Amino acid sequence: MTTAPNRDLPVDPPVDPPVDLDHALNIAIAVAEEAARIQRAHLGGDLDIGTKSSVTDLVTKVDTACETAIREGIAAVFPDHVVLGEEEGQSGEARCRWIVDPLDGTLNYAHGFPFYCVSVALEVDGVIEVGVVLDTPRDELFAAVRGRGATRDGRPIAPSDEAEPIRAMLATGFAYVPERQYENLEVFARMLPQVRAIRRPGAAALDLCYVACGRLDGFWELKLQPWDVAAGVLILQEAGATVTNGAGAPYRLGDRVLIASNGALHARLVSLLDVGGAETLA
Ligand code: IPD
Ligand code: CA
Ligand code: CA
Repeated sequence: MTTAPNRDLPVDPPVDPPVDLDHALNIAIAVAEEAARIQRAHLGGDLDIGTKSSVTDLVTKVDTACETAIREGIAAVFPDHVVLGEEEGQSGEARCRWIVDPLDGTLNYAHGFPFYCVSVALEVDGVIEVGVVLDTPRDELFAAVRGRGATRDGRPIAPSDEAEPIRAMLATGFAYVPERQYENLEVFARMLPQVRAIRRPGAAALDLCYVACGRLDGFWELKLQPWDVAAGVLILQEAGATVTNGAGAPYRLGDRVLIASNGALHARLVSLLDVGGAETLA
């Protein structure tokens, strides 16, 4: 199980890796735990809520405080690495790039709905090598290092083996942009009678981990950003799940459509969803 092959993106380990991946994993966990601590400390308090791309796209002082803490934690150990974070973007270039969603599921968090997390990934030479997703309310840790399998709280995970859409439980998410919401509502309506259930939990990074560990059989979304998925994609791949774009080709950060599944379901899911090809985000 821990040596589950990566079905989607077979790549060799980086030559002369500029970082010890065990060390990087420990740092990823440490900064995620610090962000989760900040989230717990402010839960239910004054969050100083603002909006971004639309009135439903929230940002709170906790999102920014978590990203600052994660950036400081990484910089203290790896001063020559760069960080791409949802709230502050990226400055500079380096072989090692951390891709961070400091609080995935902000809207859930702001309402006290207990489904939100921290997502931290390390990319080396353009390949994601380490991924950590920490479920803050449950203190459940999903982690993966490329080539070594994926774990939940240290134990190996694997996806389900359900191959029949009508027995599958799926999840999806809705981007904050109205056009994409309407587009996905049409897909949602079409899919609903063809599967057992569709959930909309509200934290994409965690949704991906739920596919990786078999709690969900599949997931799709139409406009996810690199920070939403960088860690979750590696966790899926290392668990032995499948993650593609809308055309069924291996998913790349920046693809407009992400479809994840246990693998057994994948071809039928791609066909049923019928959400277009390999466009990248605008
Ligand atoms: C959002 C969540 C949500 C997904 C949205 C994301 P945020 O991230 O992952 O589930 O549907 O597309 O933007 O804003 O809570 O970090
Ligand atoms: Ca997010
Ligand atoms: Ca976020």
